[in-house]
Amino acid sequence: MKNNKPLIDQVALVTGASSGIGRAIAMAMGNAGAKVAVNYVSSEEAAYRVVHDIKLSGGKAMAVRADVSREDQVRAMYEEIVNEYETIDILVNNAGVQKDSNFTDMTLEQWQRVIDINLTGAFLCAREAAREFIHRGVVPERSKAAGKIIFISSVHEVIPWAGHVNYAASKGGIMLLMKSIAQELAPQKIRVNSIGPGAIKTRINRAAWETPEAEADLLRLIPYGRVGDPDDIGKVAVWLASDESDYITGTTIFADGGMLLYPGFATGG
Ligand SMILES: NC(=O)c1ccc[n+]([C@@H]2O[C@H](COP(=O)([O-])OP(=O)(O)OC[C@H]3O[C@@H](n4cnc5c(N)ncnc54)[C@H](OP(=O)(O)O)[C@@H]3O)[C@@H](O)[C@H]2O)c1
Repeated sequence: MKNNKPLIDQVALVTGASSGIGRAIAMAMGNAGAKVAVNYVSSEEAAYRVVHDIKLSGGKAMAVRADVSREDQVRAMYEEIVNEYETIDILVNNAGVQKDSNFTDMTLEQWQRVIDINLTGAFLCAREAAREFIHRGVVPERSKAAGKIIFISSVHEVIPWAGHVNYAASKGGIMLLMKSIAQELAPQKIRVNSIGPGAIKTRINRAAWETPEAEADLLRLIPYGRVGDPDDIGKVAVWLASDESDYITGTTIFADGGMLLYPGFATGG
């Protein structure tokens, strides 16, 4: 049973699960046997559709609204989940936004909103999760770890990105947030890792793939020759949350079709 349902009896919170990568992760976690809390902030209907789809394939799920950048709302979200499912075993910090602008025109509002959601939101959700994991401890029938935290970072935790400095700074910040939490919480049997997606087809980057010309341009950055699908990330997230990856903590797994391989050097340099 545990082989094809590696997350059976575990509870997973996926932030920003109403769309794109978060939706795919929530579906994959549901298929792997987890009870899934589907977080959203504005897309209520879409979040309930995800819950419906998970239930349709035999899983358990609930929708929970919270702006991850708001401490009071994050606390209330955890209370709601613990009331319904008793505890939380897995947090996927996926909620994220882009507010693009060239650097000299970037407003403080554009800077702050991206940092608030992508970085502070990830901190707030991780802190609540860690408190619950430590309070509960390891339950060996469910998992070897007391809990697992997965950040959805980006190749831009490494690759600088002109015109997107707020976004790149938020993802660079996530890298050391993730590693520092991993270092601090490993003795308590909490595993903390990131997934760094390359270009995945979602609404956040629609302009980069929606016309054949744009997609051809994008493919020049991807040695493996295809734009990623949200399911590519869902599969990695399930594995990172499962005991199959029990000895992995404090690392980023890049799922990017080779975007980080400096494709310009394949023919130049
Ligand atoms: N797509 C890519 O190529 C790519 C590459 C690297 C990394 N990523 C990362 O992957 C993550 C998901 O992005 P995506 O591409 O799937 O984008 P998306 O389709 O736009 O989804 C973003 C999700 O974040 C939620 N969200 C936004 N602000 C929130 C807030 N304040 N509180 C709670 N939820 C909030 C949205 O909820 P509502 O719908 O309710 O507003 C939505 O569910 C982001 O962290 C992004 O940086 C994406």
